[in-house]
Amino acid sequence: MVAVDLAEVSTEALMAEIQHRLDCTRKPEKRIILIGPPGCGKGTQSPRIKHEHCLCHLATGDMLRAAVAEKTPLGLEAKKAMESGALVSDEIVIGLIEEATQKPECSKGFILDGFPRTVVQAQKLDEMLAKRGQSIDKVLNFQVPDSLLVERVTGRWVHPASGRSYHEKFAPPKVAGVDDLTGEPLIKRKDDNAETLKARLGAFHSQTTPVIEYYSKRVVALKADRPQDEVASSIAQAL
Ligand code: AP5
Repeated sequence: MVAVDLAEVSTEALMAEIQHRLDCTRKPEKRIILIGPPGCGKGTQSPRIKHEHCLCHLATGDMLRAAVAEKTPLGLEAKKAMESGALVSDEIVIGLIEEATQKPECSKGFILDGFPRTVVQAQKLDEMLAKRGQSIDKVLNFQVPDSLLVERVTGRWVHPASGRSYHEKFAPPKVAGVDDLTGEPLIKRKDDNAETLKARLGAFHSQTTPVIEYYSKRVVALKADRPQDEVASSIAQAL
């Protein structure tokens, strides 16, 4: 965590943060899954949902990339599958989520972004939550035709530390190549190329679409091939 000198934070910003935290105490708990193909906008929409509903944002892809960068044993095991566009093992991601959902910032609930991606992961998640007397409230199914995803994924730039994503055409940063908030350099993900995207889409259609059926009673379909603000409005209505 980065230490912040409060003397450098404006009174207005501090008051806004306190007001937000007070508002959060009155929000109901929520546990949400975002599901959809690579590049459909899950990571883009998550920060707004997180702020609005006071949830933590748990993206298994971000967690795995951090483990790969740190060269942990888990990261070394996940690296090959990720770079080829295949899924990493269910055991690895279930362990990550089990630990992460118990963090204090998840006390009001969570957004799962990129998990569960197989029916086995969904079943294990439900078992884990049932033991805690909890369950999933909503599953938002981001629908975007495959043909649009190549341009979205190959034009993406990310800020690795925060997971913020930009697009050179649809959501450019204020200054090319640098993160709007920190000024740090943006990078291209290794798996964001047309070849690997084919394998990622294959994994989505064969292994992840059955998860949508598994949660059929809690699924809300979202047309996610529209501008970001329109998608955000549909999400606000759905939640
Ligand atoms: P992960 O990191 O989860 O990747 P993904 O699911 O392929 O999703 P993306 O991050 O590519 O897409 P996104 O929907 O977040 O899109 P974004 O908002 O950035 O997983 C990576 C790998 O990790 C997997 O392949 C697998 O190996 C492994 N893994 C992860 N979880 C796993 C699990 N549970 N089990 C097993 N393995 C797992 O948007 C994309 C671009 O489009 C951006 O540039 C954005 O600016 C732009 N954009 C967004 N919305 C719009 C819009 N409405 N209009 C125009 N452009 C838009």
